Amino acid sequence: MVKAAVLGAAGGIGQPLALLLKTDPAIKELRLFDVVPVVKGVAQDISHVDTPAVTSGHVKSDDGEGLKAALTGCDIVVIPAGVPRKPGMTRDDLFNINAGIVRDLAQGIAQHCPKAFVLIISNPVNSTVPIAAEVFKAAGVFDPKRLFGVTTLDVVRSSTMSAQAIDKPNSADEFTIPVIGGHSGHTIIPLLSQSKPALPSSLFEDKEKLAALVKRIQFGGDEVVEAKAGGGSATLSMAYAGFRFAQQVISAAFNGKKGVIAPSYVYVADNKEITQSIGKDIAFFSVPVELGPSGVEKLHPLGDISPYEKELLSACLEELPGSITKGVQFIQQP
Ligand code: APR
Repeated sequence: MVKAAVLGAAGGIGQPLALLLKTDPAIKELRLFDVVPVVKGVAQDISHVDTPAVTSGHVKSDDGEGLKAALTGCDIVVIPAGVPRKPGMTRDDLFNINAGIVRDLAQGIAQHCPKAFVLIISNPVNSTVPIAAEVFKAAGVFDPKRLFGVTTLDVVRSSTMSAQAIDKPNSADEFTIPVIGGHSGHTIIPLLSQSKPALPSSLFEDKEKLAALVKRIQFGGDEVVEAKAGGGSATLSMAYAGFRFAQQVISAAFNGKKGVIAPSYVYVADNKEITQSIGKDIAFFSVPVELGPSGVEKLHPLGDISPYEKELLSACLEELPGSITKGVQFIQQP
């Protein structure tokens, strides 16, 4: 009897994500929360789908009762709440707004469902996950095994774009490619050399083609923004990715599925094997995560990476620690 909540469920990501979660037969209760009242209509609409999850909508209220009703007793909470960047808004403006939203929602989780698995989609994930961790630490409920930044869209893009790059566009689902690092631009490191099955050696011999593929994966979001021409950013592929990761967490935690491994941006600070494989003491990093009944069962070290991937790792490590610190400072020095 899995109870799931989507916070920010009336949004571009939230609506399709909620719909996809409604199709998961493991979920028996699906609670949709947002600041806008239309979330009740979204829930009503989705509730007509003939799958087990009983679906309800909850609106943010000044007394906190709306959030309390959405969260109490929840096993898994997925957070796509936030604001997308609007004209005239700087990256710092966006950071401050989304950071505040994630902080407030994390406080609600700490209070009403401290044992839930928490999956954060709200950007910048590199900073919002540390923000949630700080809130949970302050409330005495931080469990690094249960907090995840969703990086699955980078995994999904890696498979799709690699298949296209080798002229096998129908074979996207055949490739499993670990993606490590963070969840924006240069912090995203697709380990193409570790693809299973292996990508053809001709791809690795053509350095320009390889670099173009990596850049396309790292900045895949820009392709969508451009194509939507002012109509927003990636929502549908992100919803799919969020759903896929939520399903992986649920199947390992509640359905006893073994051997579920998925990259995710998680707390690595107290795992020496991992930080040594990264080559830096860092608090959060995306690595392949083995999932189980309590969430993170095991983190997988980086393994053999190519000299080119080492360069990508260096570029990631120039940016990522600052993003983590920015999140921590947002809570510690408001
Ligand atoms: N609590 C709950 N929901 C909120 C809150 C809040 N405090 N603040 C905003 N929301 C809701 C909005 O009302 C909206 O329905 O979050 C939803 C966000 O949806 P969109 O504006 O359509 O944005 P979307 O494209 O879905 O992106 C959401 O995910 O990928 C990230 O960068 C993206 O941070 C952004 C987030």
